[in-house]
Amino acid sequence: MKIVVLVSGRGSNLRALCRAIDEGRCAARIAAVISDRHSAEALSFAKERGLAIEVVRPKDYADREAWDAALAPVVAAHAPELVVLAGFMRIVGSAMLARFPYRIVNVHPALLPSFPGTDGPSQAIEKGARISGCTVHLVDAGIDTGPILAQGAVPVLPTDDAASLHARIQVVEHRLLPFVVDAIAKGLIVPGSKPSFGEGLAFPAQSFDSPMA
Ligand code: GRF
Repeated sequence: MKIVVLVSGRGSNLRALCRAIDEGRCAARIAAVISDRHSAEALSFAKERGLAIEVVRPKDYADREAWDAALAPVVAAHAPELVVLAGFMRIVGSAMLARFPYRIVNVHPALLPSFPGTDGPSQAIEKGARISGCTVHLVDAGIDTGPILAQGAVPVLPTDDAASLHARIQVVEHRLLPFVVDAIAKGLIVPGSKPSFGEGLAFPAQSFDSPMA
């Protein structure tokens, strides 16, 4: 399955996807990596790996809508079957959603519907959650509101700050995101407003859990 990956930051999820592809755990091919910033560390990694890269910066457009309208054809030019938001810190708009309906997945560092938006790990700590984790979901017009495809849980320890919790969550993200992309590639998850889950699909929930410290 041909995918385009959208990134803004460090790119640890992009690396995890590449590792899973290399190891035969994720039946995807990355057609391009696209960012909203030239300086994203994820882009340097993509370049090193010889992947096609593009940058579409919001500041080059009049407003968010114009930026989104410009982004959609850039992504579409690579003809992806799935668009993966892997640490993409922007909200995609109506042009992207219309071009790729239920064909955009996002990884979020909290157990949605709890703690959407920015700073999922900080929110979990502030609210005193004892369990948090990550969610892979389809993107719709809301903020982290689209249909949930898979989740992985981790404990929140009394000693945690946002950074240590986020690091623990990312260990799970790095397995869950490639797992879901692979499941979609194999038709075991069929994206849609009510996604369907194939019989052959066993979410190995425990294996995603980090051991209690
Ligand atoms: C991840 O924790 C993801 O859940 C969130 O942004 C972070 C990106 O990390 N949406 P990285 O750039 O993949 O390392």
